[in-house]
Parts: sequence; C-alpha cells; structure tokens
Amino acid sequence: MSVDLSPEEFRSLGYRVIDLLAERLGQMRAMPVRQPVPLDLRASLMHQALPSEGTDPAQLIDRVVEDVLAYPMGNNSPRFFAWVNSPSAPLAWLADLLAAAHNSSVAGSDHAATYVEHGLLNWLKTIMGFPAESMALLTSGGSVANLIGLAVMRHVKTDGNIRGAGFSGESAPMVVYTSTQGHSCIIKAVELLGIGSDNLRKIPTDADYRIDMTKLRAQIAADRAAGLRPVCIAASAGTVNTGAIDPLDEIADLCAEEGLWFHVDGAYGGLGILAEQTAGLFKGIERADSLAVDPHKWMYVPVECGCVFVRDAQAMRDTFSVVPPYLRDDRALPWFAEFGIQQTRGFKALKLWLVMQQIGEKGYRELISHDITMARYLQDKIRARADFQLIATGPLSVTCFRYAPQEVEDVVALNKRLIERVQAEGQAFLTGTELDGQYALRACVVNFRTTEADVDRLLDIIADAGQRTINEQLSTVSK
Ligand SMILES: Cc1ncc(COP(=O)(O)O)c(C=O)c1O
Repeated sequence: MSVDLSPEEFRSLGYRVIDLLAERLGQMRAMPVRQPVPLDLRASLMHQALPSEGTDPAQLIDRVVEDVLAYPMGNNSPRFFAWVNSPSAPLAWLADLLAAAHNSSVAGSDHAATYVEHGLLNWLKTIMGFPAESMALLTSGGSVANLIGLAVMRHVKTDGNIRGAGFSGESAPMVVYTSTQGHSCIIKAVELLGIGSDNLRKIPTDADYRIDMTKLRAQIAADRAAGLRPVCIAASAGTVNTGAIDPLDEIADLCAEEGLWFHVDGAYGGLGILAEQTAGLFKGIERADSLAVDPHKWMYVPVECGCVFVRDAQAMRDTFSVVPPYLRDDRALPWFAEFGIQQTRGFKALKLWLVMQQIGEKGYRELISHDITMARYLQDKIRARADFQLIATGPLSVTCFRYAPQEVEDVVALNKRLIERVQAEGQAFLTGTELDGQYALRACVVNFRTTEADVDRLLDIIADAGQRTINEQLSTVSK
C-alpha cells in the first residue's frame, strides 16, 4: 500500500469527501443535534487492534462517514447551546484541507504562511485595541493562550533568573487574583507555572458575577501585609458561567496603582468588543499586559484556534526564546517559535485569514450582535413563561434558567433529570451548571445558524422533556 495517492485517486476521494460534506451542510437543520454513540461502536473505536496491513482509503472514508461523522459533538447544529462551542464556517473546512496539503510549519522563516499569520495577527490586534508593536500568537485554544500570557507575567515579575534558577531566587511567593467565576484554565496555568493554586485568590463576585473590587483590594492588602507578593490580576472578559465581564478599566487602574500585571481572559467573550450591545463594557481591555481570545469560539473557525496578545513583545520573546544554531535565521523576522511553547506549528492562520476576509469586521459585528440578540430573546421568552425561571444573565450570550412548573417541589432534581433526557434525545443540546451552589440549565448562543425559531424550540423541547419526567415520576409513585 503506497502512502501517496495518484492525482486521479486523490481527485476521486476528494470529490467524494466534498460531496459528502455538502450533503451534510444541507441537512444541518434537520439532523439530530447529537446522538449517543452505541456501546458496540464505542468499543470498536476504542479497542480496534493496531492495523498491521494497509486498507484502501475509500473504505476508510466510508468508515469515517458511518462511525464518526454520524456521531458529532453537535456544535454545527443551530440547536446546540452547550459550553462555548460554535459552528465552523464551511469556508474554513476547505481552508483546513488546503493548510494540511500545504503542510507548512509556521515556526517561522521566510515562507508565505508566516506572513499570513503576521497579517492576521495585525487584524486581531486592531480589533482588540492592541498596539501594532505588541506581539500576538495563534495557539491551540484559550487555555494555552492564558498559559502563555501568564508565563510572560511570571518571567517579568520574578526578581531573578526564573528561566535558569526557577523559583529558588524568589524572595516571597507570588499571588495571582481572579474571581470565583474565573475559568479553570487559570488554575491549571498557575499550577503549571509553579506559582501554585494555593497562591491563586478566587475573589467573590458581585450580584452580576463580576469580581468584587472592594474584596479584591482588601485581599491584595492582606497578602502584602502577610509578606506575600501580589503580581497579577487575571480578569475575565466573559465568564463561562454567565458571560460576566469584570470591570476592566477599574482593574487596569488598580494594576497600575499596585504595580500588578493585568491579564484578561477573553477566550469566550473578548470578541464581544465588536457587538454594539456590549462594546462599551470592554473599556480597559486595550490596557491589558496580556490577553487571551479564542477565534474557535466567536470567530467561527474550526477547533483549534486560540490567540494570545502580549503588550511587551520583547518580554514575550525573553520568556520563551531558545534558538539553537541550526535554527538561526537572521534574515527572517523573529520566529513565532521564540514567542511561545511550540517549535513546529500548524498553519492555523489560513482558516482564520480566509474567514475574516469572507465575513469582514462589519460582518463579525453583525454576527456577534445577532447571538447576543438571540440570548436576550431567550431571556424574554423565559420571563414570559410561567413554567420557566430565569436564574442569571450576563451581557453576552449566556442564559441560566430552570424549568420550574408551579406544581413541582424539587425543581433542581427535575432539571437534572430532564437534561439527561434532552441530551439523549438529541433535538437540542445544552448542559447544566452551578451558580452559588445551585444547579441551573445553561444555554450559550455562539452560533450563526441559531434563529428565534430554534430558541422557541429549545424551550418547547425542555418543557416537553420536563413534563414527561414529571409524568414518569407520578406513575412510579402511584405504582
Ligand atoms: C472564559 C474561558 N476561558 C478559557 C477557556 C479555555 O479555552 P479552550 O477551551 O479553548 O482551551 C474557555 C473555554 O470555553 C473559556 O470560556
């Protein structure tokens, strides 16, 4: 079996794949959002023996269609409301094919893909209000973007030679601040960076789930008094639970007063800066020392694609740069590999470069505003229905709520049970979360396909599953 394909073989397989994807594109609205993977298929996918002989590529594509494409996560569907996972623009599907065929490593050096990424990063800096001389880098996602931003912070904030001596030269433990609603990747980052999650302060939030500035100030003062070393506030520009945006400008002021690094996790919400409803809430984000955003969320490119921005490009290079002699290339721009963790880097930029040109800044403004409008429509519908309870809303596109018909006593138990039913039946997909220790359903709209009709259907699907759950309980009790 040859690894190479003849142009004819490639064309024939490729046309099949494209036809298949075109067909799926036409069925997106009618197909179930998601369906459970049958147990025997799970087993066969996980425990298939190592193939010792080759297989005909056409057969392999058939298997992908039957065993993989039939069981998607569901986020390309208009009725997927879980987590923060958007559909991807079909143009980007083709871009990923082109990038794979092109197969450039975007570590750096003088080839077209590096200039595409630089050009794209300049656009992203313009959107986020970062200066042209700052540095940005595409990453696998928001977690790594946050990790890189915080790694630069750690490098800048250490007294000594963190790269050489680790923390052994440090005078006092560093302390990082985020809110109780900060994303779990901030915990992972401080742990990986050796700061330790014991030195991550999770500051309580106000009624709108934004960091409580009074408590934040008090905690910083207490830590200083205890001989610790506050170094960074990791603010959220769009929490995953409710889409809350911390008071960024006020935090920027506080960081300036206290000499702290100002990091912003905008993985979910950062692009909300483009929406007319929320643009004003991002004032201060342009003052961040480092910022994470996730184009694989609100910019509608396929996973994976995150982005980190660091104001001080030299500090970022100083944090990561190791240039062995065989990579020295003084004629080229500094390599991306000097600004982050990866050496070999995929050509993620192509999909975003193409989709940003397809949609344009104005188009993104409209699309993101549309999602916020859909979330507000959902909230209005919930308010108008006696059988639903609105629990929390943020300014972005998340709604927390419960199905709560009057006759039901244990609303939380009902919602936990009904969500399992909704998920298994696959007509819509959403998950639950906990707010102030209380369970709630959570619907997030980051979806250019979602319409008012899909939102109406979501509530009907939940109410229907809820009613069947109640009936089932009644019949169990009466038996
Ligand atoms: C606010 C926030 N931060 C960080 C992340 C982590 O990003 P990723 O999953 O792309 O690593 C997410 C993911 O949803 C997020 O919503």
